[in-house]
Amino acid sequence: MSQHPKSSPFYLGLRLALYATLAVIAFSLLILPAVTSTRSAFFLSLLTGAATFGIIYTLSLILIRKRLLTLSAIIENMASDNTEATEHNGSKSADELDFILRESGKADTKIKKEFRRYKKIENYRKEFIGDVSHELKTPTFAIQGFIETLLDGALDDPQVNRKFLEKAMSNANRLNSLTNDLMEISRLETGEMKIIKETIYLNEMIKEVIETLQHKATQEGITLEFDENIKNVHVKADRNQLRQVLLNLIDNGIKYNKPDGKVTITFNKDDAIYGKILVSVQDTGIGIDPHNKERITERFYRIDKSRSRDKGGTGLGLSIVKHIIEAHNERLFIDSEPGKGSKFTFSMQLSQK
Ligand SMILES: Nc1ncnc2c1ncn2[C@@H]1O[C@H](COP(=O)(O)OP(=O)(O)OP(=O)(O)O)[C@@H](O)[C@H]1O
Ligand SMILES: [Mg+2]
Repeated sequence: MSQHPKSSPFYLGLRLALYATLAVIAFSLLILPAVTSTRSAFFLSLLTGAATFGIIYTLSLILIRKRLLTLSAIIENMASDNTEATEHNGSKSADELDFILRESGKADTKIKKEFRRYKKIENYRKEFIGDVSHELKTPTFAIQGFIETLLDGALDDPQVNRKFLEKAMSNANRLNSLTNDLMEISRLETGEMKIIKETIYLNEMIKEVIETLQHKATQEGITLEFDENIKNVHVKADRNQLRQVLLNLIDNGIKYNKPDGKVTITFNKDDAIYGKILVSVQDTGIGIDPHNKERITERFYRIDKSRSRDKGGTGLGLSIVKHIIEAHNERLFIDSEPGKGSKFTFSMQLSQK
């Protein structure tokens, strides 16, 4: 739709003025001959007609044209690819045209808001699919490679075949954990994952998680420590999701640690935010520099890809953690010093139990 240029004549005003003029002239020609001569009546009618034309056209310019131009700009904007709504000052009168203008303004704002949301989702999907296919390629190619080598003869070599099968298996496991994480993150990011809050005895849950990861920590030579400085902490959270946050943070503490390192979990009652507890997972590991600190919660972001991959990482753990914490309306803080270690702290709502 093309907008009427401001310089072009105002056709609606012209028509209104013309009809009014014709009506006035016709009326004058009917009435005036009764009171004056035909000649005077004719001239007077023309004069009244001209005055009517001028008045009606000017009035319609003032009352209608400016708002029609704004309305046409709004409608044109609605139909365009523009992502912002049209800015306009509205008008002070409260007539029908003003009502239409206001409602169109609201519709424009709403359409553009949805449009921006849709564009964001579309970009997210594109990026997500790109990331996913890229991440799936590595283990898939590895499995293909090992199987091909086995088929090419390595199968008959007892020294090699078992090792290759184990490698293929470990890549298949990676594919499996990757698909699980992907399903989880897409449910979290699209808001499909529901939070079912319940009262959780946090001290107990931490001990459970430590138990789950103890074997891995021992294998890596890392000590897991729960500094139970506050007893009987109960929080309101989704059980599975909170467990996942703890599992991911402690798992990272183990994976990105130094030999003979330590991972310590502590509580801190935060006085500034009433009703919250801060839970920290601190390690004595390699640390994170400030530039990477900004990015590690992005999906698939890994500082040292090969180290993360060697440890079976996909770069989704912290992104899942962040989503879960935000979905609980809580916050995640990261303190870290390269070479010294990192501390991941999150807040949780205390439950009055
Ligand atoms: N405690 C930590 N110390 C140092 N670096 C860390 C720590 N935690 C995370 N990182 C860095 O942040 C990156 C992202 O972590 P994230 O947990 O998201 O992925 P991952 O551990 O590589 O894989 P996943 O958790 O999906 O198995 C890691 O690859 C690592 O480089
Ligand atoms: Mg991780």
